[in-house]
Amino acid sequence: LASDERRLELALLGFGHVGRRFALLLDERRDDLRRAFRVDPRVVAICTSKHGSIYNRQGIDLRDAVARRSSGQSFGSHETPADLIARLESSAAPVRVVMEATTLSVSDAQPAIAHIEMALDSGCHAVTVNKGPVAFAFRRLHQFASDKGLSFLFEGAVMDGVPIFNLVRETLPSVKVTGFRGIVNTTTQHVLMALEAGEPFAAALERMQAEGIAEADPALDLQGWDAAAKAAALANVLLDADLTPHTVAREGLGPGTAAAVQRAFAAGRRLRLVISGSRGSGGAHASVRLTGLEPTDILATLASTANALILTTDLLDEIAICQMRGNVTQTAYALFSDLVTVCRRAGAGG
Ligand SMILES: NC(=O)c1ccc[n+]([C@@H]2O[C@H](COP(=O)([O-])OP(=O)(O)OC[C@H]3O[C@@H](n4cnc5c(N)ncnc54)[C@H](OP(=O)(O)O)[C@@H]3O)[C@@H](O)[C@H]2O)c1
Repeated sequence: LASDERRLELALLGFGHVGRRFALLLDERRDDLRRAFRVDPRVVAICTSKHGSIYNRQGIDLRDAVARRSSGQSFGSHETPADLIARLESSAAPVRVVMEATTLSVSDAQPAIAHIEMALDSGCHAVTVNKGPVAFAFRRLHQFASDKGLSFLFEGAVMDGVPIFNLVRETLPSVKVTGFRGIVNTTTQHVLMALEAGEPFAAALERMQAEGIAEADPALDLQGWDAAAKAAALANVLLDADLTPHTVAREGLGPGTAAAVQRAFAAGRRLRLVISGSRGSGGAHASVRLTGLEPTDILATLASTANALILTTDLLDEIAICQMRGNVTQTAYALFSDLVTVCRRAGAGG
C-alpha cells in the first residue's frame, strides 16, 4: 500500500463464470484503478453456494482462487454471505464494496436482494451483475442506497458491459427517456434465426447450451423470463416504473414458433423476441413479444449473436446501441466499470 493510497476492500458473492472472470480482470487491471483513483483494491472475501468461502484480510490471491475453483476444488471455510459482509463492516477500509454475482431467481430475486440490503445496511456499496434486484426492487434499493450515501449499481443487468445505464446516467444529463425497444436475449435470437434457416429447434438450442450462452435452465430464455427481467430493469431505471418480471406482459417460444417464423418470413417479415417499454398515463409498462419486424428495421438486421436496444428520448430522438457479440469478459467488465464509478463517487484520488 503506497502511503497516499486508500484501501478498497471487496467481497465477491458468487464465484462462477462471471465472478471468476471478474477476479482475473481485476488482477489484470488493478493498476488502472491505482493510477486513476489512488486506491489499493483487494478482494478479501469470496463466497459460493456449495463450494465454500474464503476470507483473507490481507487480500486473496485471485489467480490461485480461480485456479482452485476451476479445477473443481472447494474453499475451506463455510462462512455465509452475512458472515462475510459482517467482516467487511468491521474493517477500517474507507471504501468497501460487495459485488453480487450469484444466480438469477425469476421468482423473487432472492437471496440477491437480501445480499444487497445487507451490504448497504453495513455501509458497503453494492454492485451486481444479477438482473434480479434491479428487476424486482430497484426503487427500494436505490432509495436505501441514497439514504445511506452509498452506490447501488447494476450495469451488467442488460447487455453485459455495453453501457446502457451508464450511458443515460453519465452522458445524457436532463434527457428524458420516453421508451425503449430491443432484442436482449441471445439464445432466443439464435434459435429464431436458426428456425428461419430451416434448422430444427433442438439443434439450435443445444448449440447455445454448448457455448454457455443459454441460462442453466434454458426455459428462462425460451419462455421469455430473462427478457422480461431485462425489460423490467430498463423500465424501472429509465422510465421510473415499479415493475417486476411478473408484471411485464410476456410471450416466449413454443411448439408453434417454427411455423410462425416461416409464415412471417414468407410474408417478408422477421419474427424476433422484442422487448419494449413506454411511459403511459397510468404509469410505465413493458412487454416481451414475438414480433414480425420489417426487414429494414434495425432490429431485423441483427446477426444471431447480436443484441440491440433503441432508446426513445425527448431531446435526442432515437439512440440505438448494439452489442455485436457478448461474452463473459464483457459481463465481468460491467462489474469493473461499476467499480470505477464507486471509486469516482467515493472521491478516491482522481
Ligand atoms: N454468464 C453470463 O454470460 C452472464 C451474463 C450477464 C449476466 N449474468 C448474470 O451473472 C450472474 C452469475 O452468472 P454466472 O454465469 O457466473 O453463474 P454461475 O456460473 O452459475 O455462478 C453462480 C455463482 O453463484 C454462487 N451462488 C449461488 N447462490 C448463492 C448463494 N445463495 N450464496 C452464495 N453464492 C451463491 C454459485 O456457487 P457454487 O459455485 O457453489 O455453485 C456460483 O459460484 C447471474 O445472475 C447471471 O444471470 C451472467
